[in-house]
Amino acid sequence: MAAAFRAVPRERFVPEVAAREGLAAVYRDQALVTRRDARGVPTSSSSQPSLMAAMLEALALEPGQRVLEVGTGTGYHAALLSTLVDGTGQVTSVELDPDLAERARVALAAGEHRVEVVVGDGRLGWASGAPFDRIVVTASGPGLPRPWLDQLRPGGLLELPLWLRGTTQAVVVLRREGDELASVAIIPGGFMGLRGSLDEEVPVVHDQLVASDLTESPPSRPLASLTGPALRHLRPDARRRLLALALGPSRSVRLPVRAPHRALELFVSLAAPEDRMVQCVTDRPARSGVGVVGTDGRSLSVVTQARSSACLATWGGSEAERLAIELVEGWRDAGRPGIGGLRLRVGYGTAPRAWHTSRRGDAVLAFDWLGPPTLPGRGR
Ligand SMILES: C[S@@+](CC[C@H](N)C(=O)[O-])C[C@H]1O[C@@H](n2cnc3c(N)ncnc32)[C@H](O)[C@@H]1O
Repeated sequence: MAAAFRAVPRERFVPEVAAREGLAAVYRDQALVTRRDARGVPTSSSSQPSLMAAMLEALALEPGQRVLEVGTGTGYHAALLSTLVDGTGQVTSVELDPDLAERARVALAAGEHRVEVVVGDGRLGWASGAPFDRIVVTASGPGLPRPWLDQLRPGGLLELPLWLRGTTQAVVVLRREGDELASVAIIPGGFMGLRGSLDEEVPVVHDQLVASDLTESPPSRPLASLTGPALRHLRPDARRRLLALALGPSRSVRLPVRAPHRALELFVSLAAPEDRMVQCVTDRPARSGVGVVGTDGRSLSVVTQARSSACLATWGGSEAERLAIELVEGWRDAGRPGIGGLRLRVGYGTAPRAWHTSRRGDAVLAFDWLGPPTLPGRGR
């Protein structure tokens, strides 16, 4: 793995960053945005190297394998893939944006990487190159389109940043078992969204409330944004009340237990009742968290990060806060599960029995935790 990173110079794929900020910026462990839409929203980047390394490691690539990448971007990740499958393997990478595809082709050719870059909607996979030993998706979304399963050989691995609930994400690695997929690893991390067309800056997110200030140029980030299934269950006046609440000040509430932020956020995002679950991002102060809303949008409480551990950011009355604390206690009583304990099975058609299930088009996602005997917080 380290040899692959040493063999592929990142600056070849992000020359604008090298020219503007120098090699130190190119080799910092951070995602480098390479394209934005007219409103300043990032639409392409070279992903964070440490996340790429963790994802490549989990793919367990071997020389000779056939790999499909969805989301070519700069081509840097495709170059690493082609180095890892050696001269005998084959990498195909599909990119929605023809300009980006062409730029990646040029950079890949300069490094003599054998990668076929094609233009298309990667949600359809690339049927003429199938079957693949590995499919790796480098843009996030809620779904697992059937073509990815069909184009993967039995026993092959599919790796993708998946929206678990609302837009909370983790990178899941799934093995094809017959017509199902079963997780072999889940890695913390997130990616920009898969787009359905070039006009779409981010995937259409349903169940979202956003307040933006468009007087600034370039436009600022949204002042407040709320996403999640709870919004569908609120009346229009309650939704407006909730958005107004999120624009105001919040208070910090200490948790009854010390908890690592990521593990708790993951648990709460899956355990929160359907009619209560929201994800909230505010600009000033900059906060982001996953949590719950109270009846009629009169309160909001989300798990957020305070230094290394988690706390609650709460707006309005105490109802949402009480439910959030119940969920935190549920996490403690379930044995404090972390991301390593989460299991996911994906079926197409019938719904497997599980702790938490979610239908996404024709795919049904079934989540379970490894080990803990009792899991409260469900069925409310
Ligand atoms: C985070 S970037 C990819 C990073 C890239 N693998 C790299 O290492 O440079 C996501 C890419 O996915 C592309 N993309 C978004 N929606 C797509 C779709 N439906 N099909 C194919 N590519 C898509 C974007 O244009 C963008 O270039």
